[in-house]
Amino acid sequence: MAFHVTIQKSGHGFDAADGDTVLVAAQAAGITLPYGCRNGACGACKGKIVEGRVDYGAHQPYTLTDSEKAAGFALFCCAKPLTDLIIDAREISGVGDIQVRKLPCRVMSIEKPAPDVAVLKLKLPANEKLQFLAGQYIEMLLKDGKRRAYSMANPPHDAEHIELHVRRMPGGAFTEPVFTTLKEKDILRFEGPMGTFFLREESDKPMIFVASGTGFAPIKAVLEHAFHAGIERQIVLYWGGRRPADIYLSSLCEQWQRDHANFSFIPVVSDALPEDQWTGRAGFVHRAVMQDFPDLSGWQVYACGAPIVVDSAHKDFTEQCGLPDEEFFSDSFTASVDGVAR
Ligand code: FES
Repeated sequence: MAFHVTIQKSGHGFDAADGDTVLVAAQAAGITLPYGCRNGACGACKGKIVEGRVDYGAHQPYTLTDSEKAAGFALFCCAKPLTDLIIDAREISGVGDIQVRKLPCRVMSIEKPAPDVAVLKLKLPANEKLQFLAGQYIEMLLKDGKRRAYSMANPPHDAEHIELHVRRMPGGAFTEPVFTTLKEKDILRFEGPMGTFFLREESDKPMIFVASGTGFAPIKAVLEHAFHAGIERQIVLYWGGRRPADIYLSSLCEQWQRDHANFSFIPVVSDALPEDQWTGRAGFVHRAVMQDFPDLSGWQVYACGAPIVVDSAHKDFTEQCGLPDEEFFSDSFTASVDGVAR
């Protein structure tokens, strides 16, 4: 039995077929709600059930707590309607008409800018072009049916190759082969583009970007798009890592700083060793932002990388620095309930 879902603010509505999640049903109707992992791990799709009941679905317990459920919240990537619903959710324009496709690709190069980071460049078949927004991700389709999500680090105007930044995770279903057996000319398959982490170009607010580790990948795509589009809003990038080597493309960021008067770059290292001879900013990356910008009420923030960094930034920026909740955009690199990791 299909249930009808109404988005309170806009009045837009769609039907959810039996077994469909709210997110899937919205997408089928051409309505984009915010999402990231699509499997209950990142919290990007969290919204409110104003009226009606849902089956909350399988999700990580910390992503949706019992007290949040009691307060009416649900994760729309997992929640299935049990009645007609009225929901409170942000609608996103700009991605609804981008087709999600399954495509093969060929490995063009594998570079290692740091011992545990690989930059993969992938080529699409001749005559194929992937339409996407800077900051979106693709899912690599593995032979055993598993999927692994990776952000595209290149912007759409520079899409001859798809660029992925892969951090080595011991035993990782995709990352281990990337660091051991994968070679140039190998064929892979992926599905994409996906995700709602992209630049909100309708705003004129200055922007802070917070990257942790390979969370730099989608931020690189967004920034290269912003530079290409001639966006003149002030942009500050904070890139955090445990050791200086984790900030594996700092020379590129320094070059951007020389080339663009509206851009500045602040690398932040949390666990430097004496042999690193690190003399730059130290500590947690989101804390460095708060030291420099105690008032974020007039800013937009884009954060990407480890969940602990993204979640801390969201909590502390909105609670302590006055950042409006709707001006925080994130892509959290999570492990999911079925072990999918990125
Ligand atoms: S998209 Fe729903 S929890 Fe990540």
